[in-house]
Amino acid sequence: MPSVVKINVLTVPAEMREQLEQRFANRAGMVESADGFEWFELLRPVDGTDQYLVYTRWRSEEDFQRWQESQAFQRGHAQARAEAQGPGQGHGHGQGQEPGQGHGQGHGHGQGPTASGSQLWSFEVVQSATPKS
Ligand code: HEM
Repeated sequence: MPSVVKINVLTVPAEMREQLEQRFANRAGMVESADGFEWFELLRPVDGTDQYLVYTRWRSEEDFQRWQESQAFQRGHAQARAEAQGPGQGHGHGQGQEPGQGHGQGHGHGQGPTASGSQLWSFEVVQSATPKS
């Protein structure tokens, strides 16, 4: 069975880039322990587009689905969720809900999410190569 690649495409306005990268810098790091996880990269656009790619590779579709339904996925997105809900709308859905959320990350841009859109791309690995040693 070939591995599968799941790429989450995040549309990030220029003024939110730093904040997005900061969130990934503080990410939970739980995906590394997920069953069937093979690879992760956060890819920053350098060609003038506003789309970051979150590249992940998995042993199988089922492994990816299991991770997406897991607590590890939710915790890995705690900051993203807290921000997406905005102030005054959080009803205690777990982590990252302290009042004053976003301190040290907000830079006065308000509480909105860093990504204004997202899209999931799915692939099967047909071939891959690594350098000869
Ligand atoms: C509504 C859609 C999504 C948005 C807005 C989003 C955004 C984010 C953000 C901002 C982070 C940094 C951590 C945080 O802020 O809590 C994060 C972590 C991550 N995201 Fe997403 N994400 C979404 C869905 C997905 C999907 C479908 C995938 C599958 C490829 C994915 C893969 C990851 C991975 C692997 C991490 C690191 C988690 C860890 O360290 O355990 N995301 N995401």
